[in-house]
Amino acid sequence: MNRVGIIGIGAYVPENIVTNRDLEKRVDTNDEWIRARTGIEERRIASDDIDTSHMAIKAAKEAIRDAGIEAEDIDLILVATATPDYSFPSVACLVQGALELQHAAAMDVGAACSGFVYGVVTGQQFVQSGTYKHVLVIGSEKFSKIVDWSDRNTSVLFGDGAGAVVLSTVSEERGILASDLGADGRGAYHLLVEKESNFVAMNGREVFKFAVRQMPESSMLVVDKAGLTKEDVHFLVPHQANMRIIDAARERLGLSKEKVSTTVKEHGNTSAASIPLALYTELQNGNIQDDDVIVMVGFGGGLTWGSICLRWGT
Ligand code: UT7
Repeated sequence: MNRVGIIGIGAYVPENIVTNRDLEKRVDTNDEWIRARTGIEERRIASDDIDTSHMAIKAAKEAIRDAGIEAEDIDLILVATATPDYSFPSVACLVQGALELQHAAAMDVGAACSGFVYGVVTGQQFVQSGTYKHVLVIGSEKFSKIVDWSDRNTSVLFGDGAGAVVLSTVSEERGILASDLGADGRGAYHLLVEKESNFVAMNGREVFKFAVRQMPESSMLVVDKAGLTKEDVHFLVPHQANMRIIDAARERLGLSKEKVSTTVKEHGNTSAASIPLALYTELQNGNIQDDDVIVMVGFGGGLTWGSICLRWGT
């Protein structure tokens, strides 16, 4: 069976920065509360003319360039998103059309904030089996369009953005070593888009409890499945929702603060885009090198979770 890894990565965030102070003017909140409870300092918000597909296309172009392949080499496009431009066609088809990837199959993956991890593990199966050579996996979200900007419970949390990777075969010792996907539909109504309003609604405390339990557990599980111990982990790239949840996962893995991505400060919670955006940022900052063992772990609506233990490099 082929070993599968990430051979290219790209990202995109809108230019417009919205700070906590900006939000103080819109709802009854304050910078101190947002920083202390979430770790968020600012987020990017897309303008009206930029939708989820536009951000996905920008991130995808960079990932394909970074992989050193041609766009027509892509066999399958998977877009993880909870905020598609339309209920159909899929964002994946919009990307396929815009990039003229004529022979690529295309579909969206619906697993909310865990969607990117679900997408990578799904794409891995096709490459591992030899069915496809190159799979483009994108996480792209425009949560700003489903946020009630008069609700302080949710409007301070989210941001817009996209990240993309190209999966392909890599050398035997590198790539995805182990993964874990899971769901608990009993918690489905803790985090959802309300039918009446079309706005995101959340039982924050329940989601928090679930995340603090599940993120560390799933992270530890993939390390174990990979035949490694937590001492072997160089870097943790968790879903960027809340600094306190990230800290819980970090402590369980026994990692120091420099060994965990905390882009939630600048991006807020970008749902399915958060892990590829964080991974991109850490690579840019030189925090992840070839042969480093990294753990990516997501959780979110569904409720869902997913983890990947991967040795970086091709
Ligand atoms: O991708 C997955 C998405 N979701 C998550 O990851 C969310 C997980 N949950 C959380 O991150 C946290 O539960 C929140 C950050 C959402 C909330 O933090 P918390 O420590 O659970 O606060 P809380 O909801 O218990 O609220 C505490 C107080 C409340 O006031 P009272 O009832 O104690 O008087 C809230 O009304 O804070 C109030 N509050 C705010 N105050 C200022 C809630 N939102 C705000 C706000 N500014 N934006």
